[in-house]
Amino acid sequence: MEPFRPVLLVVDDEPGILAIVARVAQAGGFEVVTRTRGQTVSELETIKADAALVDLRIPGTSGIEILQQIHAHDPACQVILMTGFASIDSAVEAVKLGALDYLSKPLNLERLGELLKTVQQGLDRRRRLMAADSAVAQRFEFCGMIGRSPAMQDLFDLIRRLAPHTRTALITGETGTGKELVAAALHKMGPRRGRRFVALNCSAIAETLFESELFGHARGAFTGAGEAKAGLFELADGGTLFLDEIGELPPPMQAKLLRVVEMGELRRVGATDERKVDVQVVAATNRSLRDEVDHGRFRQDLYYRLNVVEIALTPLRERREDIPYLTAAFVEEFAKGFGKRLQGLTPGAERLLQQADWAGNVRELRNTIERACILSEGHILSERDIASVAGSQDRPAPQPQAVPRPQIPLDLEQVRSALEQAGGNKAAAARALGLSRRAFYRRLETLGLR
Ligand SMILES: Nc1ncnc2c1ncn2[C@@H]1O[C@H](COP(=O)(O)OP(=O)(O)OP(=O)(O)O)[C@@H](O)[C@H]1O
Ligand SMILES: [Mg+2]
Repeated sequence: MEPFRPVLLVVDDEPGILAIVARVAQAGGFEVVTRTRGQTVSELETIKADAALVDLRIPGTSGIEILQQIHAHDPACQVILMTGFASIDSAVEAVKLGALDYLSKPLNLERLGELLKTVQQGLDRRRRLMAADSAVAQRFEFCGMIGRSPAMQDLFDLIRRLAPHTRTALITGETGTGKELVAAALHKMGPRRGRRFVALNCSAIAETLFESELFGHARGAFTGAGEAKAGLFELADGGTLFLDEIGELPPPMQAKLLRVVEMGELRRVGATDERKVDVQVVAATNRSLRDEVDHGRFRQDLYYRLNVVEIALTPLRERREDIPYLTAAFVEEFAKGFGKRLQGLTPGAERLLQQADWAGNVRELRNTIERACILSEGHILSERDIASVAGSQDRPAPQPQAVPRPQIPLDLEQVRSALEQAGGNKAAAARALGLSRRAFYRRLETLGLR
């Protein structure tokens, strides 16, 4: 681990004290910043102290007030108060208010040294825990997925065993549980790994374009068809075609898809000859396809064909033991990405993450950590960093029926602002507007936003 010098802020109106404390703290491995008065918020922001030593009596303010300011800014900062013998009661009160400890004056340098050592050890331990978490996270990683829970370990096992043999698979699970990652893992772990992995989101495509998109078309097959063109099936030949949101596939297309899956043959739109393809079809859905079948919206024969291998993903709230490992990996990823010196989370922040319901599953957790990393000013993500972003976005919005249907067509502004509020998540924006994904994507297309 790289050498780490935590920053200690020392506030006292006596320059003599500042000099002594600075000497002891520097020898103890701290970067020291001294001040003779209270700090403005922006000053605290530039200092980014990991710990502070503050005199109780500061002209124009008080040590308690400074303590509160520091904690309002960064709850993880460890604050020690210094006080004359007479004001011992306020020191006890200060500890109750969240100070780590207090030192009485005149300063006992040995005790000062010991206290600073305790602070160092606390900071070190936090760093080590963090590093250990992300090291462990690597051990529990499989094809870009992190999971320590039995549910995830079983999933990794299942993929390892299935991947060499699958021809079709159905992946089910709530939004954000990692269905796309599983599809990619089936491809990477199987014999087709050297060939193409082609993905199509079935909700993102206009009904009239499906057939030529999937199967291609002959030259001049329809107005605007121009040259002959291969479809996604041909592109994926030898590899894998991932059909996301398979439940959105219109019934006539379901019949055609079944045919390719069963016979390995397709016909381009407007063509007369059949072409052979060898494609692994992996489908995903966050609805119950069983229900869709029962309601006559999804072909039973295609359903049975796909769910020969069904992989059902567990919601994050049912495998909470994965949360610390996912969190550690995401903090590391974003700290690196944003060039920040983030070392972990406060216990309060960890508790918040552990308790949230994560309706948007891993995607929501990941986005929460990303935003907290952007917002955070200190070295440790605090409860406040998390609380200000957690739960605000990425979760599936309430059922469409509950949302008043907007007037259609929506204008550009409405669509833009819905997208912005959903953090760019199109599915969530569609739900918030009370539109089906397909209708929303069509609207995006018309507005030139895709
Ligand atoms: N186990 C995991 N480890 C690490 N990252 C994960 C894991 N599961 C999901 N993610 C991340 O969460 C996000 C959502 O995953 P993915 O797109 O695979 O979900 P999904 O099930 O396809 O969701 P949707 O139904 O909304 O399309 C991605 O950024 C993905 O990298
Ligand atoms: Mg997906």
